[in-house]
Amino acid sequence: RLLIIDFGSQVTQLIARRLRELNVYCEIHPYQNVTDAFLTEFAPKAIIFSGGPDSVVREGSPRPPKSAYELGVPILGICYGQQVMMQDLGGLVEAGQSHTAEFGRAWVKPTETPIDLLNGWFMDGTGREQAWMSHGDHVSRLAPGFEVFGTSPGAPFAITADLSRRFYAVQFHPEVHHTPNGATLYENFVRDAGFTGDWTMAAYREEMIANIREQVGDSHVICALSGGVDSSVTGILLHEAIGDQLTCVFVDHGLLRLGEAEQVVQMFRDNYNLNLIHADESDLFLGELEGVSDPETKRKIIGRLFIDVFQKYADQIEGAQFLAQGTLYPDVIESVSFSGGPSVTIKSHHNVGGLPEKMGLKLVEPLRGLFKDEVRTLGHELGLPASFIGRHPFPGPGLAIRCPGEITREKLEILRKADAVYIDQIRKHGLYDEIWQAFVAILPVRTVGVMGDGRTYDFACALRAVTSVDGMTADYYPFSHEFLGETATRIINEVKGINRVTYDITSKPPGTIEWE
Ligand code: XMP
Repeated sequence: RLLIIDFGSQVTQLIARRLRELNVYCEIHPYQNVTDAFLTEFAPKAIIFSGGPDSVVREGSPRPPKSAYELGVPILGICYGQQVMMQDLGGLVEAGQSHTAEFGRAWVKPTETPIDLLNGWFMDGTGREQAWMSHGDHVSRLAPGFEVFGTSPGAPFAITADLSRRFYAVQFHPEVHHTPNGATLYENFVRDAGFTGDWTMAAYREEMIANIREQVGDSHVICALSGGVDSSVTGILLHEAIGDQLTCVFVDHGLLRLGEAEQVVQMFRDNYNLNLIHADESDLFLGELEGVSDPETKRKIIGRLFIDVFQKYADQIEGAQFLAQGTLYPDVIESVSFSGGPSVTIKSHHNVGGLPEKMGLKLVEPLRGLFKDEVRTLGHELGLPASFIGRHPFPGPGLAIRCPGEITREKLEILRKADAVYIDQIRKHGLYDEIWQAFVAILPVRTVGVMGDGRTYDFACALRAVTSVDGMTADYYPFSHEFLGETATRIINEVKGINRVTYDITSKPPGTIEWE
């Protein structure tokens, strides 16, 4: 196994991800925990030093144990990790000056001597490779035994290595997207270390299960199931790890789609024999939302009620000490401010954050190191039906934010039917998987129409469909006119209460995906 010593970089998890993609088993451990004894016990086949925010020039900045260099295994140092290696082994690192600091894209050029680590690099004929840099300090003298194999304008020692000891150290971040060919370096490194790439998601599942058992012991865990992929995978994984020590609560706020509550509960009951409470609290939620039309007020009410309701059910579960959450790696990173300044709240997102503090519960977050697509793979592994895994995201406040203005049961009823027709159309045309998210919003306006020989005065609705990678930015989906026409006709014919259909062609930004 490979050990990643984490010095606090924002992108350490990306290193793990790149290695998982190469089917190599790795573990990330914070530098504080990596002692001599730890290293002996762990017996890594290779080590990676991550980047980090500190400066090696600062007295007392983080270091790996010296014994790491004596294990006889390959080591790869990245950014801060490179500087640590140089300083530990007798080189020199100098504190940042504006002309040597590099942030963002840089072009790395090779020196004369080719090395295995760089196989597949500098191949496109331009004689250089794009790499992403983010450093203030820089190496100014190499440690004995090291040579330079690549340079960039701000980093004369961009790629360095002591080939006899198989120590490699690079100033840039090969794990990030902006080093497009960076995975190749990891591939060469793990090959050199003797990994055969036979590790799989099945093995990761076993590892997570062992970790959960260790963390939880014989305590009881509660988990809020929303029916989305993240919370479902969390629940199933926990169930596999601790069986009856888990209780899942599915809070039905009455703002779900047509047949959704039944489908979610049925899927869990049919496939997994876990303790599941179906909390039908729709009267409570819809009652409190009556007459409310301000979007933020709606969101706040729903968020507050969700916590109250969850707490009510949790109180009935004796001895619950942990709360399980489907937090993913991007959530962890996004909660850390990059800019340092408070950002503006566009929408108060609804999640179960805030629950653990209020309830005095400890957190179990088994998916914390994973990305969405990896969670889907894990879901597969756990036997979640494919139709469930591939579902479009659905927001916590549900249909409340697709019903601008006042929410009434009548409007929700109409919205559910229109949405079902729309999604059915999308599936029938084979477009569901091409679209990130699609839904109908019912507009707070009635319009005049004519059907048969009579006048109608019904609601208008808007269809929304977007493509996106992460929901942060999005583009509207370019349906054909035939598709749009056919869908509008079907909705107006099949859904009583709607007599006009529009298509929302706003991208994000400036729009948001949801209407509120
Ligand atoms: P917006 O509307 O902000 O949405 O462009 C981006 C993505 O986030 C979803 N969304 C939410 N998800 N709780 C959630 O769990 C929320 O409060 C929430 N609000 C929006 C939205 O559906 C889209 O996928």
